[in-house]
Amino acid sequence: MRWPRSVETADVSGKRVLVRADLNVPLAGGTIADDTRIRAALPTLQWLLDRGAREVVVCSHLGRPKTGDDLERLSIAPVADRLRSLLPDGRIRVLENTRFHSGETSNDSEFARELAEGVDLYVNDAFGSAHRAHSSTEGVAHLLPAYAGLLLLAELEHLGRLLGEVEHPFVIVAGGAKVEDKLAVLENLGGRADRVLIGGKMAEQMREHNPLSFPVELPVDVVAASTFAEDAEAHVATVDAVPAGWLGLDIGPATAAAFGAILREARTIFWNGPMGVFEWSRFAAGTRAVAEAVAAADAYSVVGGGDSVRAIQELGLADRVSWVSTGGGASLELLEGRDLPGVAAIPEG
Ligand code: 3PG
Ligand code: MG
Repeated sequence: MRWPRSVETADVSGKRVLVRADLNVPLAGGTIADDTRIRAALPTLQWLLDRGAREVVVCSHLGRPKTGDDLERLSIAPVADRLRSLLPDGRIRVLENTRFHSGETSNDSEFARELAEGVDLYVNDAFGSAHRAHSSTEGVAHLLPAYAGLLLLAELEHLGRLLGEVEHPFVIVAGGAKVEDKLAVLENLGGRADRVLIGGKMAEQMREHNPLSFPVELPVDVVAASTFAEDAEAHVATVDAVPAGWLGLDIGPATAAAFGAILREARTIFWNGPMGVFEWSRFAAGTRAVAEAVAAADAYSVVGGGDSVRAIQELGLADRVSWVSTGGGASLELLEGRDLPGVAAIPEG
């Protein structure tokens, strides 16, 4: 893997530094639902302040603004307030949502020049956005001396370990809904894994046809529900006995036990995607069983992808896995073996 040069090699004393962080946090009713990404941005900011930076200008996108209403709904102001409360230092300045500028997502050089104006150097710490070639993640890196932040480097190191020599058994467990998004990752990593366990809606799609070049293990039973509703009529059924028109909203107990046993013996684990609709407690047992097995395993374990990350956080097990990635799409693209534009734009270290 190619390593971008680290901010730790930069002389930042007395400098004005532009930091691209990924502060794209989930919002619920105007408040921050989870501030993991804000906290994850702090070490680099602290490092810059400790090394005597004159000013630290932080920028990030928030959501995907489209209409005029979004200018209020997706203002970075509450995120900036949270950041300042976690790291009170007068030298930090937070720019408004980069996507309020129409040039951002088209990687417009004019907007990149605006960002670079009056700045001495650029640090990209936005791993979660590194798969985007936007003005603030890619374009600006060509206009200033560019460095990788500590979070970005940690993500590359932890996820990159899965691409190199790993200890066996190497077990991948994948779930969630969007099978198309994950096939390339499974193909790239799965050939080197000893077992590939599939749950969630993905399993139903793959039962019809497995497009991968190796076999996968699918659920033997599910929690079948009469309709997609929290209070639907539901019971455990073997996969061949699901009533017509019913939906599997979780893996069943036999599958959960089998997956759990395989995971507990693993030495390397990558988990992406929940086993069912874990937001509804009646369909959460399978995802919980997987999370507990991943945590219990004496393994190098990596959790990536928004929903499985949320599950492991909510279950309070995040500190029992080796690495919880702040990147959804970015972690998948990295594990597919693709170059991330935000990383490629930084000179090699
Ligand atoms: C994410 O949440 O995956 C990143 O912040 C990137 O956001 P985007 O998919 O809107 O580019
Ligand atoms: Mg563990």
